[in-house]
Amino acid sequence: MPDKQPQRYQFFDQHPEIADFREDIIRGLSAPEPYILPKYFYDETGSRLFEDICNTQEYYPTRTEVSIIRNNIDDIVNTLGKDCLLIEPGSGDSYKVRLLLDALRPVAYLPIDISRRYLQDEAQKLAAEFTWLNVHAVCADFTGNLELPYHVEAVNKVAFFPGSTIGNFLPQQAVTVLREIRMMVGDDGGLLIGVDLQKESAILNAAYNDREGFTEQFNKNLLLRINRELGADFDLEQFEHLAFFNKEKHRIEMHLVSRQDQHISIGDQVFKFEKGQRIHTEYSHKYTVEHFQQLAREAGFNSVKTWLDEERLFSVHYLQVAGPGA
Ligand code: AVI
Repeated sequence: MPDKQPQRYQFFDQHPEIADFREDIIRGLSAPEPYILPKYFYDETGSRLFEDICNTQEYYPTRTEVSIIRNNIDDIVNTLGKDCLLIEPGSGDSYKVRLLLDALRPVAYLPIDISRRYLQDEAQKLAAEFTWLNVHAVCADFTGNLELPYHVEAVNKVAFFPGSTIGNFLPQQAVTVLREIRMMVGDDGGLLIGVDLQKESAILNAAYNDREGFTEQFNKNLLLRINRELGADFDLEQFEHLAFFNKEKHRIEMHLVSRQDQHISIGDQVFKFEKGQRIHTEYSHKYTVEHFQQLAREAGFNSVKTWLDEERLFSVHYLQVAGPGA
């Protein structure tokens, strides 16, 4: 007899447009204040280095967020409600969602990621691990007006956006991203989101300048990637990793600083860097609970509950859509 059961693992391909790496790099390095977009950190080496960063003593966000979720799992599940459809934009390796699944028992988990192969591998692994779970993987760019692959009614849609990834956007861009998530979850939906908090500069500076040098390698891997993929001739020794907390703007800034006057070639294009000139690579904004709640309100969400660790290093918020047209 044919199997009439819907498949637990499904894959939906929305064929996202893949940005042109060369075009983005040339544009960024030609700008009056040169930059490289932080999304380019995450090739295979960069993703591995990011995992190494997360395991350092100095980088508190990952372990603190995990412990907040573990310590409050019952309250989180009660607040989100049973039978939700759990959506994770930019799901990556779906590591943190594993903390929620057994307790939350969602009707389905929808990981969304732009990198097709990785998404398929990770989503299939998850479906094998959680033998009761429906996993509906969506290959799409979640920052571009994303529509869910099927229509669901009478189900509470909850997005999960951990890791303080929201901090890597400028505050006004963060509002746009939150609005996109709001559209995705619909009028009765919610969002469980991890947000790093403002704190003493020393703790922040240490977190982005770990002693083992993983953050430095992560930052410089951008140059290695440009050398490898675009045939450029960056000498990594001639650039310095710079990461510091900018108190006025409440953000970590990461740059690569030229140690001397130098010329870099990418194909037939030549870029001149003066000694001390910076290439900007990342912002990581740090919020107060109140300031983040205000951004969320601008995006049409109300704050329902916030969980913190004892030292108030990190926050996990549950936000609910404020209502149609809010
Ligand atoms: C992914 N993102 C939230 C990290 C952060 O802390 O902003 C990326 C990172 N950059 C350097 N260390 C970690």
